[in-house]
Amino acid sequence: MARNVIIFDTTLRDGEQAPGNTMTPEEKLRLARQLDALGIDVLESGFPAASEGDYRSVREIAQEVRRPVIAALARCHEKDIDLAGEAISGAERGRLHIFISTSDLHLKHKLKISREDCLALTRSAVRRARRYTDDVEFSAEDASRTDLDYLCAVVEAAIAEGATTINLPDTVGYAVPAEYGAMFRAVRERVPGADRVIWSAHCHDDLGLATANSLAAIEAGAGQVECTVNGIGERAGNASLEEIVMAGRVRPQALQFRCGINTQEIFRTSQLLSYLTGVFPPPNKAIVGRNAFAHEAGIHQHGMMQNGLTYEIIRPETVGIPGSTLVLGKHSGRHALERRYRELGYELEEAMLEEIYRDFVALADRKREILDEDLLALLHDSFHDAPEEYHLTFLRVVCGSANAQAEVRLKGPWAGERNATGSGDGPIAAAFSAISEIVGRPIEVANLSLRSVTPGRDSVGQVFLQVRIAGKSLTGHSASTDIVEASARALVHALNKAHHADRLEASALNSTYLWGV
Ligand code: KIV
Ligand code: ZN
Repeated sequence: MARNVIIFDTTLRDGEQAPGNTMTPEEKLRLARQLDALGIDVLESGFPAASEGDYRSVREIAQEVRRPVIAALARCHEKDIDLAGEAISGAERGRLHIFISTSDLHLKHKLKISREDCLALTRSAVRRARRYTDDVEFSAEDASRTDLDYLCAVVEAAIAEGATTINLPDTVGYAVPAEYGAMFRAVRERVPGADRVIWSAHCHDDLGLATANSLAAIEAGAGQVECTVNGIGERAGNASLEEIVMAGRVRPQALQFRCGINTQEIFRTSQLLSYLTGVFPPPNKAIVGRNAFAHEAGIHQHGMMQNGLTYEIIRPETVGIPGSTLVLGKHSGRHALERRYRELGYELEEAMLEEIYRDFVALADRKREILDEDLLALLHDSFHDAPEEYHLTFLRVVCGSANAQAEVRLKGPWAGERNATGSGDGPIAAAFSAISEIVGRPIEVANLSLRSVTPGRDSVGQVFLQVRIAGKSLTGHSASTDIVEASARALVHALNKAHHADRLEASALNSTYLWGV
């Protein structure tokens, strides 16, 4: 009989803490709403002790997203637990997720405490967490490399103090499936009270085994899996939500579990995350990669034409990939545009439709055929996660074999427009130097990636930027058939976010807490 498995999504915590995946609180809230639509059961919203931004974001998500359980992470420290407890206090259903390392390696070299100290900290932390909520999860970090007898002792203590979910992570992606499953069986057999709690798997992908290990844990009795969209996360990432869920859907006889995920929201969620972070899954990534449903080899295409089942185990529509690509163009009106967005799963409000239609007309002047991917790029560009204080009004570049020159005009938090010229060893560098001159702030570019939205010479180029402005890491993105213009607009997007963050910081009430991990 198929058992229900709880899908615990940690994209906003374990996923977001990995380099390159940083999101602002507004972006996190937008993703949290989409994760809700996806049907996840538990949403790990952040680590409130890490920073004031994390605390604020967890609080906001707890207040705004009402259906899933909202979890917040805390170390076994009083201050961490209190901050996390307060951050989830507005949730419909809140969970505190307490963790401590249990392997001798981590105890000796990371925490520099004894096994007895770790046991005592576990007891007091779970007890303290229970003051805030009845839903307390305890994680034995590096469980897969922990001495089994000691692991059982720590887990027994956590259950005795009132933990309701016990998570046994493969923190460094070291375990292999048979071994990881055996650990769950052994701990569940040995620990008193094992049948009172939910057992959870949390796997990292350092050996590419995170999905396989999660499935092995389910087979060994785990009732919850922790995973992330697109498999993002520390180092090689976490177990991928879409892989675990689709494995269960495609192979129900072999895997015997079910979950409440609405698979038709998978592609939309994956795309939103990619747009927000600028990190797209590799083309061959299972389920959500660009090529996951492409059939290139002639022999495969021939088979597909006879019968789709020959080479396709999942219909693209099952995960929400739009079936046919309807082409729009210069003469398509608002109604055609609105209808296509509706078919792609987006209901647009009047004002937003108006704005996108304007951009659509401008794009149609430059590009003959507008495909679904172009529409998605326009849509994601139209979400304003920060007020548009800065606005690019003019850009001209001269480039060639000599140093490039750029002339830029910006509207900003000043009257009228300001302009400047800049130079650099390419047109993008020149435009960035002029923008930096106008706003009077040094800008450090950490990464700039360019992606063509559709094939063809008139393709839209999408630019994703990671910059540091006044010590803050920010992302910006924009799309245009002109990649220099897209880059300049992406930088203006990041500047708007920096300006918004400065304002929020200035207006934040002085807190009695000090953040920092
Ligand atoms: O990988 C890990 O062990 C973790 C814990 C904090 C649950 O992310
Ligand atoms: Zn982890």
